[in-house]
Amino acid sequence: MSPQDKAKIAAGKAAIDEFVFDGMKIGLGSGTTSHFFVRSLGERVRDGLSITATTTSRSTTAVAEEVGIVITDVNDIGELDLTIDGPDEIDRDFNMIKGGGACLLWEKIVAHASRKMITICDETKIVDVLGAFPLPVEVVRFGYRQTMRLIEKALENNGIAGADIYRRETNGDPVITDSGHYIIDCKCGQIHDPAAVETALNMIPGVVENGLFTGESSGMVVGHFDGSTKIIL
Ligand code: 5RP
Repeated sequence: MSPQDKAKIAAGKAAIDEFVFDGMKIGLGSGTTSHFFVRSLGERVRDGLSITATTTSRSTTAVAEEVGIVITDVNDIGELDLTIDGPDEIDRDFNMIKGGGACLLWEKIVAHASRKMITICDETKIVDVLGAFPLPVEVVRFGYRQTMRLIEKALENNGIAGADIYRRETNGDPVITDSGHYIIDCKCGQIHDPAAVETALNMIPGVVENGLFTGESSGMVVGHFDGSTKIIL
């Protein structure tokens, strides 16, 4: 196992120890870090921990069910106590880029349905300024090239000129999200006002949601390559 995976696992376990309690309603994030967390949570559930859980992607539902966590439909769970999820990038104010796994829409819906969100990550995800990781924007398929033009304009209006903007594809086929949309990735370079960019992108007709999370997370559990962890609140 790589040191990075060890760090991801350590972060998830520390988050369970610190933030997960019997009887909680929990949102389960997506991506490799979250999947490690879900596997650790499954062990605790087998040891008697009682939680109610919902997920942020079909892939996380599959992992949760594999490890014996019963998944409640997001429409039936009411307000969640806590969501635990991973970022692609996170700054020291807990602003994040998410959506590297194309799950950003469900992740944001579940995060906003939760009283608290805690981010779990390995040390490589922490940055001074967001933007090196391409910012994903989930768009409806109709007129997506028009939407891309408007995304470019909105980025320019927010001080991000010359961004490389393209539809995400795998083996020549467009990536389709769990909700049936396209993902447009935007290589921005540096995003100095992530809250403004998040709002501006979501004003564009055709944009369903974007991967900037600027007010959701209230803390992070960082896993280091030596296996140690740090909680930052
Ligand atoms: C999926 C996401 C993931 O949470 C994000 O990509 C982090 O993934 P990983 O833990 O594999 O680095 O936003 O849409």
